[in-house]
Amino acid sequence: MTGTQNHGDHRDGLDAAERMSREELTALQLTRLRATLRHAYDNVPFYRRSFDAAGLRPEDCSALADLARFPFTTKADLREQYPFGMFAVDRSRVRRLHASSGTTGTPTVVGYTERDLDLWAGVVARSLRAAGCRPGDTVHVAYGYGLFTGGLGAHYGAERLGCTVIPASGGMTERQVRIIQDLRPRVIMVTPTYMLTLLDEFERQGIDPRGTSLKVGVFGAEPWTEAMRREIEERCAIDAVDIYGLSEVIGPGVAQECVETKDGPHIWEDHFFPEIVDPVTGQALPDGAHGELVLTSLTKEAMPVIRYRTRDLTRLLPGTARAFRRMERITGRADDMLIVRGVNLFPSQIEEIVLHVPGLAPHFQLRLTREGRMDRLTVRAEARQEATAAQREAAAQETARRVKEGIGVSVTVEVVDPQTLERSMGKLRRVVDERPREAAARRSR
Ligand code: DLL
Repeated sequence: MTGTQNHGDHRDGLDAAERMSREELTALQLTRLRATLRHAYDNVPFYRRSFDAAGLRPEDCSALADLARFPFTTKADLREQYPFGMFAVDRSRVRRLHASSGTTGTPTVVGYTERDLDLWAGVVARSLRAAGCRPGDTVHVAYGYGLFTGGLGAHYGAERLGCTVIPASGGMTERQVRIIQDLRPRVIMVTPTYMLTLLDEFERQGIDPRGTSLKVGVFGAEPWTEAMRREIEERCAIDAVDIYGLSEVIGPGVAQECVETKDGPHIWEDHFFPEIVDPVTGQALPDGAHGELVLTSLTKEAMPVIRYRTRDLTRLLPGTARAFRRMERITGRADDMLIVRGVNLFPSQIEEIVLHVPGLAPHFQLRLTREGRMDRLTVRAEARQEATAAQREAAAQETARRVKEGIGVSVTVEVVDPQTLERSMGKLRRVVDERPREAAARRSR
């Protein structure tokens, strides 16, 4: 542990659900699940059709295990119902809308009633507490504000916990540093890659990030690795913890890593019921098995989601700091997986390697090109400022060797000058796919 957190009081102030036994939790989940299935069936024609097609009624769920008989909901379903087809309440009861960026097609819209917003603030407040944040702390929110759920989700959760919020949003990196220096937040909420951008900016301005007021970082919205946690914790002397969530389910605050264990996010199971399925066959898998996370909301009003296929790959683990089950840090998304000459790989595997090779900075990009019929993957990684030409050359060879040995694929490695790769202002684009369009489309099908 590199942070300066006092963990002595980490179980004080937990809310009632966090203190429940597994039995109490299971009973609560079943009651809530049955009510949610009923609410969805009665109020959303999409769910009525899909349950009817499967020959199921809400009351057929008499145990939590019965949920596995119900049909999945996918992103494509949400797109087809764009904009309001998934809503289960009258539009007049919807207090807030958010939307996904829609860069890959029709956007998806999500809605919240007053009670949903209250629930959301509650789970983010609980998450922040688990991260080591306390009432009275100042929280710098550098997730983007707007249709993205990161900024406003973090904001209202921090206020709910009783914190002072700095609604910095993303971008204007120089100014972020100034604000942190002047307003002295103890907690920062930001994507891990934008945190790296901020750390570089501190250093560029000649400020040692280890000397700032920041003690806790709550990082999420994109995959990151243990190697990245170490890099961030060492560079700025904070506790770096993982927050998980997705707009379709609520936004940030579905699951949160506890600072005292740092062993993967605990899922707030009193509101979100997790399952793991085989990403190809949809077959339900037991706890401990790797697969795709499927989430069912247990308390949402405006837009209940039943068995939502997140595409996020992880596994379920027993609780440690809380009775709720944990999920392993997300290693990738089913649709981020690259297949290079028959070998499956995730950008996070490359990240683990790049962050361990001496001479390389934690900034890299993956470039996919096509030569004849072959896909070629180029890892472009930035050299550390102090690396000599010989060290750069050695770093390139070492990276290629570790990728070949660890993942089993040959890649070209280009070590580029410091500060030359695109910097993150929010969620980073890791992969640049320059393959001819139809080859890329065929592969992503
Ligand atoms: O990213 C919500 C969020 C905001 C979470 C701020 C955490 C912090 P979406 O834009 O809908 O919502 O994107 C959701 O982002 O399915 C994952 O693929 C990815 N993701 C979110 N958190 C993590 C994480 C927000 N901690 C998608 N680790 C999800 C890995 C994450 N991936």
